[in-house]
Amino acid sequence: MVRINDNYLKLPDSYLFSDIGRKVNAFIKENPDKKVIRLGIGDVTRPLTPTIIKALHEAVDEMGEAATFKGYAPDLGYEFLRKAISDNDYKARGCDIEPDEIFVSDGAKCDCGNIQEIFATDSRVAVCDPVYPVYVDSNVMAGRGGSYDERSEGFTDIIYMPCLEENDFVPQLPKEVPDLIYLCFPNNPTGTVIKKADLQKWVDYANEHGSVIIYDAAYEAYIRTEGVPHSVYECTGAKSCAIELHSFSKNAGFTGLRLGYAVIPKELCRGGVSLHKLWARRHGTKYNGAPYIVQRAGEAVYSPEGQAEIKGLVDYYMRNASYILDGLKDAGFSVSGGVDAPYIWLKTPDGMTSRDFFDHLLKEANVVGTPGSGFGPHGEGYFRLTAFGSYENTVEAVDRIKKLKN
Ligand SMILES: Cc1ncc(COP(=O)(O)O)c(C=O)c1O
Repeated sequence: MVRINDNYLKLPDSYLFSDIGRKVNAFIKENPDKKVIRLGIGDVTRPLTPTIIKALHEAVDEMGEAATFKGYAPDLGYEFLRKAISDNDYKARGCDIEPDEIFVSDGAKCDCGNIQEIFATDSRVAVCDPVYPVYVDSNVMAGRGGSYDERSEGFTDIIYMPCLEENDFVPQLPKEVPDLIYLCFPNNPTGTVIKKADLQKWVDYANEHGSVIIYDAAYEAYIRTEGVPHSVYECTGAKSCAIELHSFSKNAGFTGLRLGYAVIPKELCRGGVSLHKLWARRHGTKYNGAPYIVQRAGEAVYSPEGQAEIKGLVDYYMRNASYILDGLKDAGFSVSGGVDAPYIWLKTPDGMTSRDFFDHLLKEANVVGTPGSGFGPHGEGYFRLTAFGSYENTVEAVDRIKKLKN
């Protein structure tokens, strides 16, 4: 009889997230007159902008004409998009990344989850704690997790790098050398960014030990502070140790359209083998390309009009972030993030657990956020609010939380 991949059984059910959904639904049912404001999920709410809609319409029309119809997209992405990415996201910032080092995909989640496939099953994996759960879960599914330890709420073979308040939520270089190091800046969930000099230390460490950094830059567009790196390739030597992942979801509102890309520099080799070649082989076998119309929409993001419009989107969400950050500070909360990221990470008051604070906020302020413990053991005692709601709802939610505190 066939046997299943029992690594999947090691993953604890996401009780916390299903519990949240259940609690919110029950609350709404019992309190139909109350307006519940959701600042919990990391999904955008603003519509696609006119330039992107226009590009989509034009591409749809092309698909309806024999002369311009497109079938399968090239495995690694259309040249027009790869060139726009290389020119705008890299060369304009002084990073020498060529179009053929870019692999277009349908979003960063798939790339985050799949990239581990090209590494050995016994690779040691290091992640931040708290963390975007995909990095851990995809490695556990592949057999790199060891077993789940109820006590530490972590996997025995994963190296967890605590991101603590005293280090501005930036991880420290681990004592045990990992093979794969997942870093994400601006960070989900803490909203932290890393200074270039600190990122350089990780690049030097990876080059010294032969590790590979998977650098998730999904929130890069939210960086406002001068000197904060937008790409790992701003660091010297990163092309020989880092893979970078990007998304069009949070900068341009593509969460429902689906578009992203991975960068694997040609010079990045391990064991004498080019990782670029391995990923190209993997892509060619398992992936048939992001839709033509979506890639045209992605190209439109880089037009001058597209750039102005998406700046407007990011500014809109960052106005929310500032309102949340300032409001909660005024109310005496200990808060971080929200300056170069759409996430605000607050310390739960009076030593409450993350879950108790969730219940308290839902019941007393009718506001939904995400308990930090859902992102890893070091998220306990923290709570994440997102800036992706409407401005009006954000203002109302913060004002309600402030009243609660006073
Ligand atoms: C850190 C991080 N990486 C990747 C993603 C997924 O992005 P995409 O929508 O491109 O799959 C998310 C989405 O929330 C995220 O928070």
